[in-house]
Amino acid sequence: MIFGEKNVDTPICWGMVGGGRGSQIGYIHRSAALRDFNFELVAGAFDIVPERGIEFGENCHVAADRCYSDYQTMFEAEAERPDGIQAVSIATPNFTHYEIAKAALEAGLHVYCEKPLCFTSEQAEELETLVKKSGKIMFVSYGYAGHQMIEQARKMVENGDLGKIRIINMQFAHGGNNVAVEKKAASQAWRVDPKKAGPAFSMGDVGTHMLYLTEAICPQLHINRLMCTKQSFVEGRMLEDNAMTIMEYDNGAIGYIWSSGVNAGEQFGFRIRIIGEKASVAWDAEKPNYLSYEVQGESPRMLSRGNSYLYPEALADDRIGGGHPEGLFEAWSNLYTKFAIAIDRCEKGKAVDFWYPDIHAGVLGVKWVEKCVESADKDSAWITF
Ligand SMILES: NC(=O)c1ccc[n+]([C@@H]2O[C@H](COP(=O)([O-])OP(=O)(O)OC[C@H]3O[C@@H](n4cnc5c(N)ncnc54)[C@H](O)[C@@H]3O)[C@@H](O)[C@H]2O)c1
Repeated sequence: MIFGEKNVDTPICWGMVGGGRGSQIGYIHRSAALRDFNFELVAGAFDIVPERGIEFGENCHVAADRCYSDYQTMFEAEAERPDGIQAVSIATPNFTHYEIAKAALEAGLHVYCEKPLCFTSEQAEELETLVKKSGKIMFVSYGYAGHQMIEQARKMVENGDLGKIRIINMQFAHGGNNVAVEKKAASQAWRVDPKKAGPAFSMGDVGTHMLYLTEAICPQLHINRLMCTKQSFVEGRMLEDNAMTIMEYDNGAIGYIWSSGVNAGEQFGFRIRIIGEKASVAWDAEKPNYLSYEVQGESPRMLSRGNSYLYPEALADDRIGGGHPEGLFEAWSNLYTKFAIAIDRCEKGKAVDFWYPDIHAGVLGVKWVEKCVESADKDSAWITF
């Protein structure tokens, strides 16, 4: 259980690029990083508009001389300070991740980067090489993986509670982009612009989350090949707003990911069901405190967060005990706490002996999008992964 006691000797000096006022994801980064007292927000280049970012930083209690107009100035100036930032989070649109992450690693920082990591496998592999060379910690922001019941599902799979895994059925299919919302909101416009979003919209935006959940819950499975079909239902969109991907794994299992922004009427539509030869588990991101556990021939069970029947690894992430709801903010905090512990161990030359969404997960996400697009463009041909 987490009590908020220190995980690091002194809070890690932390900065942010992006995530300013009006951004979708900036606040949850700050809330998650600051919740367990492992980080101190001391610097930032929070906005593409410098004046707005500087004003925003000051409103977040960042000292005026450490609110920067851009990330290059921030990395340079912070490197000169004895109390300069040790870690940075990147919460900017997709097309900026590669260059900002590269500059951060070259500046000797630990990095927490939003997904999708970048546009191409070449860029992703270059970042992976840089991470290895620098010896720094890099997390990719697959926040749903921090939920306690995801850890529970992982342990259940590992301990054979489901038997050999046969099928993984996933969807992140919401209705929020069923009309051209990008014409009204700048924060939606970049998402459907190939120059700014990358080679995909819905697959990069939401599908990669599902891909990572499979890696988190079933790390033993590796994709052999995949096939994909994609559509742009809303007129004028250059990127897909709906895609369906089937994946074959090396143990004979099969997986399916429905990535969509046009599932009209569905608020979020984020669900995963893992089917083994004797039982299944199912999880819904809108009811994250529960994991359905169904053994063939037995009455279905609903496992609930914070209870002693869960695996200790899942209970380790608990913050308040069963019954009280936890949610996405706690899940992200769990990952940021792991980020802090990983940084601490790394700085002390100790091994990081727990799983987290690492640079390799980022590389796989980029490669998955690439292969999906390749398959869809070849009339849904099977593509070796
Ligand atoms: N992990 C998740 O669950 C999750 C959820 C939503 C978004 N995201 C990802 O987070 C990233 C940001 O998404 P968003 O929805 O917050 O976008 P947004 O458009 O709402 O906000 C982007 C922010 O970045 C700032 N910015 C842009 N370029 C910048 C630069 N060069 N330097 C400094 N600041 C810059 C903007 O001013 C703005 O504050 C995207 O990559 C997206 O895919 C992840």
